[in-house]
Amino acid sequence: MAQTKQKIFRFTFTHFFAMLLTVMFIVTVVLTFKLLTNDHCNCPRQETVIQYVAKPKHYTNKGYESNHKLAVLVPYRNRFEELMEFVPYIHDFLNGQRINHDIFILNQVDSNRFNRASLINVGYLETKSNYDYIAMHDVDLLPLNKNLTYLYPQQPFHLAAPHLHPRYHYEKFIGGILLINREHFNLVNGLSNKYWGWGLEDDEFYVRLKDANLNITRPENISTGMNDTFKHIHGKDRKRDTVKCFNQREVTRRRDRQTGLHDVRYKIISYKSMTIGSAPLTVINIELLCDRNVTPWCNCEVSKTEKN
Ligand SMILES: *[C@@H]1O[C@H](CO)[C@@H](O)[C@H](O)[C@H]1NC(C)=O
Ligand SMILES: *[C@@H]1O[C@H](CO)[C@@H](O)[C@H](O)[C@H]1NC(C)=O
Ligand SMILES: *[C@@H]1O[C@H](CO)[C@@H](O)[C@H](O)[C@H]1NC(C)=O
Ligand SMILES: *[C@@H]1O[C@H](CO)[C@@H](O)[C@H](O)[C@H]1NC(C)=O
Repeated sequence: MAQTKQKIFRFTFTHFFAMLLTVMFIVTVVLTFKLLTNDHCNCPRQETVIQYVAKPKHYTNKGYESNHKLAVLVPYRNRFEELMEFVPYIHDFLNGQRINHDIFILNQVDSNRFNRASLINVGYLETKSNYDYIAMHDVDLLPLNKNLTYLYPQQPFHLAAPHLHPRYHYEKFIGGILLINREHFNLVNGLSNKYWGWGLEDDEFYVRLKDANLNITRPENISTGMNDTFKHIHGKDRKRDTVKCFNQREVTRRRDRQTGLHDVRYKIISYKSMTIGSAPLTVINIELLCDRNVTPWCNCEVSKTEKN
């Protein structure tokens, strides 16, 4: 009996000892691994990358004209050649005026019709924490006259004024290039989101500025005229999406008191920082979301098949 007891004791003791060793080994391995990974991973999280906004550049040897920072917001889709010319040109032009600026290409990547106004709303929301004024800027319009100032505007400043723009000369025109500070853009709730397709969103924006008692200002002392103040860089055969479907015509003729900055629906697909020549820019790939109950004309084609 005593012999068997001893055997059992020996057996359990060896067993226990082996288990203890195994557990100690596992604990050591886990601890070592944890320490190693902690050392190596000071890496930013995925969300930080998605929320990234390009930081303003610092031209230390130039010095800026003011402490204000300008976000140049360029609504964009399929205008590659114009983009290649626009970015280096406007970058040099703004550096010439010592304007602290960054260029954002607002690239609409969904399959809805182009919506310039909503893209600008998105551009504003994505940049507002780092910039205190924006330029709503067409990609095909280059300023030629150095007196066209891009300084911080106390009131909305319409650079591409009717008496200077090569093509549009009516008094209420405020398209092409418009500078507006962050507070004023927010005050009027940005632009309407109802304008899918080409045109009229800037006329509606004019009414928003007027209703808010803002005074639109325009360049003075410009010795150049309609032909030589700006360069229009697109070909004459440009196709425009002027189709009107559903009740688009009636609705977009009226002032929109519902939609704007506060309800623009979108997804950021990605940010891409790049350079053209030596000019830095950030492409923001944007998917605009359309509520077909409110604006069924965001895609005329799909609408027709739905109706059938
Ligand atoms: C706009 O101009 C009018 C008349 O010149 C002036 O009374 C008003 O205060 C101005 N509005 C702003 C917001 O500066
Ligand atoms: C335009 O010129 C007039 C006189 O010629 C001057 O009083 C005014 O300050 C100038 N405006 C700007 C914006 O330079
Ligand atoms: C720029 O402004 C100055 C001062 O107001 C004026 O004398 C000059 O003619 C302007 N130049 C151009 C090219 O418009
Ligand atoms: C602009 O050019 C057109 C022809 O290209 C000419 O008819 C017109 O008079 C010019 N306008 C000005 C303000 O120079």
